Amino acid sequence: MRKQMRSGHIGVLTSGGDTPGLNAAIRGIGKTASQGHSMQVIGFKDGFRGLMENRSVRLDNKMLSGILTLGGTILGTSRDKPHKMPMGGKIVDMTDVIVENYYKNHLDVLVCLGGGGTLKNAYRLSKEGCNIITLPKTIDNDIVGTDVTFGFDTALGIAVEAIDRLHSTASSHHRVIIVEIMGHKVGWLALGAGMAGGADAILIPEIPYTIEKLADSILERVSRGKRFSIVAVAEGAITVEGANKIRAVERKLEKAEGDVRAKLKAQLSALDTEYRGSTMELANELQQITGLETRVTILGHLQRGGTPSALDRMLATRLGTSAIDYIREEQFGIMVAVDGEHTKTVPLQDVAGKINYVPPDHPWVTSSRNLATSFGD
Ligand code: F6P
Repeated sequence: MRKQMRSGHIGVLTSGGDTPGLNAAIRGIGKTASQGHSMQVIGFKDGFRGLMENRSVRLDNKMLSGILTLGGTILGTSRDKPHKMPMGGKIVDMTDVIVENYYKNHLDVLVCLGGGGTLKNAYRLSKEGCNIITLPKTIDNDIVGTDVTFGFDTALGIAVEAIDRLHSTASSHHRVIIVEIMGHKVGWLALGAGMAGGADAILIPEIPYTIEKLADSILERVSRGKRFSIVAVAEGAITVEGANKIRAVERKLEKAEGDVRAKLKAQLSALDTEYRGSTMELANELQQITGLETRVTILGHLQRGGTPSALDRMLATRLGTSAIDYIREEQFGIMVAVDGEHTKTVPLQDVAGKINYVPPDHPWVTSSRNLATSFGD
């Protein structure tokens, strides 16, 4: 989508969960804008909340210096949504205030660095008439339209190192260790880390499991003299029973509207809570069935913290600098996506609200199956 640029005032914000590489992207945007093109960049604090409260900072060379290697985001972040902002105990639609502040700051474009939730919010602002560009960041790698998201590689490295370390203790104690890996409702991180770390079983949301099949695979290892096992489980992994119940509600949701839709959404979220992320229960059941001592390690926010990997620094820098090229071409209402060694633009309407699931026949899955890794199915 093309809209008219005036003078080159760029706003930047980071929204949703923090991700290693955000500062590299901010630096890429800020340095390219000021050095080559005399554009001015301001950063809004704490995501959409900062834009709503008009809290900003000038992203000059001093601010941008020395941040390439830093984890987190120098701008701060939040999960606040423009149309559902918690305000003094109430949830209020603050979209109008945000759009007003966009104009008050004389912005020509707002660059939103974020994951799936940010994309939806950014698309809403784009429909309100703001010039918007997004960059795909999330450790979950769940955004469609791009080869990969920045943050994923760093989190993958952390999870793999954890699995490597868990191997020696699992083997010494002849235990099963279940390692829970982030990823929201997709399995890219658990699959990648399980594959690279040589996990004996990998459970991901896209391939529902049964505890019996998982236990069989572990007992089969015992019969081959392998007295320990590592299970990499995605936080969103789900049993066949849970997946069937969720699918039934999702099917109804496709045609539902109004109150019925709201009720079905509430049902879905209750089912998610009941069936996903129950790693402790999984461990207890597995221990009972196999008779093997079982322990759980939840990696949690360790996977998001700290310095970005070299690949993520490069990726975020490429995306940040490319964003300025697209701004100069006055391409708005788009996400800057990774396309091999290049970047490309994808219309926000084609990616907002969509999820990049692991295809169950993805080469990472088939390779792992060739090595007799169990998916519990
Ligand atoms: O989207 C990134 C992510 O780390 C997910 O993997 C995880 O489910 C979620 O954020 C955790 O969110 P929070 O940091 O708000 O608890």
